[in-house]
Amino acid sequence: MDEQAVARAFRLAHFEKLGSTNDEALARARAGDPGRLWIVADEQSGGRGRLGRTWSSPAGNLYASLLLLDPAPPLHLSELGFVAGVALAESVRALVDADPRLGIKWPNDLLFAEAKLGGILLESTPLPGGGRACVIGIGVNCRSHPDNTPYPATALVKIGDAALAEKPIGPEHVFRALSASLARWLEVWAGGKEFGQIRVEWLKYAAHIGRTIQIVRPNGRIEGIFKSIDAQGRLILTGPQGEKVIEAGDVFLNAPPSDDSKAM
Ligand code: BTN
Repeated sequence: MDEQAVARAFRLAHFEKLGSTNDEALARARAGDPGRLWIVADEQSGGRGRLGRTWSSPAGNLYASLLLLDPAPPLHLSELGFVAGVALAESVRALVDADPRLGIKWPNDLLFAEAKLGGILLESTPLPGGGRACVIGIGVNCRSHPDNTPYPATALVKIGDAALAEKPIGPEHVFRALSASLARWLEVWAGGKEFGQIRVEWLKYAAHIGRTIQIVRPNGRIEGIFKSIDAQGRLILTGPQGEKVIEAGDVFLNAPPSDDSKAM
């Protein structure tokens, strides 16, 4: 872990193999851990992604979860995904020589050249003695990525730029930069008081702004132009019928031809 994170009282527990680093962090919280604890595993046998998906977790990639206890009032907790997204983009940016093809896909997937390089899974649970445990789980494809995913995937090792060939691409390098960056951005966020600053930074990395996107939700798809995110991080979509605010969903640039899209 980076010294900046250690100086801010973050701790690290490293494992060769776990079911899920998020599950371990939640279990530690229930067992009384005071938080500011990173759980890192070299591989996971039950890695979990957003919306109940599995997260392929062979050795060679980064699997890390940060446990925080009551980091903010409940209304601000979902902002943690954006804080983590900014920290993740900032730390990987240095590893790809600030290549502008690095971006964040709403709400918080890390993209490189329109393929998914990493993802964030935010989970929280009430604690028996009161208060709430929040876990920010982060996966980054360093040496491999799964095939046949709904959104194309990539890995740092595949970014075949000659200038990058000499750069470190292992999970330990990403984690070192990430632990420092997230410690700093959590301070800036100040438990939600300064989400405005996080929003501004997030928008610098945002992919697809101004483009026509499809948002896939459990109740169907909706199409429109991605205008921005609002003060709570919700996606603002514009179309002939005005603006619509989207709380959750998966963003795609191109929809399969046979879908039942609803243009707005
Ligand atoms: C997504 O669906 O994009 C989120 C993926 C999050 C994966 C990470 S890997 C570390 C942590 N442990 C898990 O089981 N999931 C998260």
